[in-house]
Amino acid sequence: MVKRNPHMSKLSGSYLFPEVKKRARALLEKTPEAKLISLSIGDTTEQLPPFVTQSLVQKAIAMGTASGYEGYGAEQGLDSLRKSISETYYKGLVAPEEVFISDGAKCDIARLQMLFGSDVITAVQDPAYPVYVDTSVIMGQTGSHTNSYYDRLVYLPCTAENNFFPVLDENTPPFDLLYFCNPNNPTGAVCTKQQLQKLVDFVKERGAFLIYDAAYSVYIQDPALPRTIFEIPGAKDVAIEINSFSKIIGFTGIRLSWTVIPKDLRFEEGPSVITDWNRIMTTCFNGASIIAQHGGLGALTPEGLKEIDTLVQFYLGNAKLLKDHFTQSGYEVFGGTHAPYLFVKTPHQSSWEAFDHFLYKYNIVTTPGSGFGPGGEGYLRLSAFGKRATIEEALSRLN
Ligand code: MLT
Repeated sequence: MVKRNPHMSKLSGSYLFPEVKKRARALLEKTPEAKLISLSIGDTTEQLPPFVTQSLVQKAIAMGTASGYEGYGAEQGLDSLRKSISETYYKGLVAPEEVFISDGAKCDIARLQMLFGSDVITAVQDPAYPVYVDTSVIMGQTGSHTNSYYDRLVYLPCTAENNFFPVLDENTPPFDLLYFCNPNNPTGAVCTKQQLQKLVDFVKERGAFLIYDAAYSVYIQDPALPRTIFEIPGAKDVAIEINSFSKIIGFTGIRLSWTVIPKDLRFEEGPSVITDWNRIMTTCFNGASIIAQHGGLGALTPEGLKEIDTLVQFYLGNAKLLKDHFTQSGYEVFGGTHAPYLFVKTPHQSSWEAFDHFLYKYNIVTTPGSGFGPGGEGYLRLSAFGKRATIEEALSRLN
């Protein structure tokens, strides 16, 4: 018989969003006529804008011609897209060769587990996007004590009292990797330059690496707030940045993302991280879809950038409607200004109790804050990705 990966049994039964869906389905089984509204998973809802659509279509058509057909592309992505990300998104702060194109931030987070192996100690913000913790647990970063699944995982409490930014000081337990999401999923908090400088300096002082998830960075509206960790002096000595076209231009179904590995980032023994990452990507990945990459190229042209801004403003408009409503109804609400997520305090109810309350009373599906870690208990996360009519319908039900 084949033995199961013993670490799988240390995960909760299902990943957060399938669990949310399961509970919503249970309601539909009891009340099939219920019209559910989802403010749960952060999935984009607006159609692809015309210029970006055209970029995808043109390449798809070219693939049906003898001269335009292409087979496998470079595992690292099209040179033109790497260059365009370097110039347009990073304004030259990173070189094209430091950008690795892929099929999703979530997939790259999982592949990072291969890069670092199971011996590292991983720190996460608490609450955090569950993929950081779950992939670490699958890899076995759970320690040798059978009664403690998480002793190779360090939770850094991020609370409303500390503006959802962890206390980083001599009491912070040792770690090798720190996963950090800004703007934050799930809290919607956004960091100042000073906070990010503190983060980079602290990680450097600890001789650790920062895995910086910037998947929501286009939602930052204030030019004084950094959109990439590489705006912070010293970041190239410690940080890897992950980003994605999913929430930028509605590519959740198309699949396209990137990870930046600075050329000079080195392991303790000396080898460069980029060489190992390249080895992993060329071994485990055959490159992102050529058609999707052409869509990405279109998104980074001046026309595409205008389309990105229109989409971002639309979803932030949804966030404002939600934020205003919940605030006026007496809830304490965080996020939703530089992020498409709102974190709503649910006094007197646990996260799952509040989830059930909104599900059964209003037929609105939310995400329980506790699904993002113990620090999310007592909160609900609301996603501002939705059709305007859906958001308005949700608000009218709540009135
Ligand atoms: C979320 O709802 O947290 C995200 O959409 C999930 C994801 O990006 O994988």
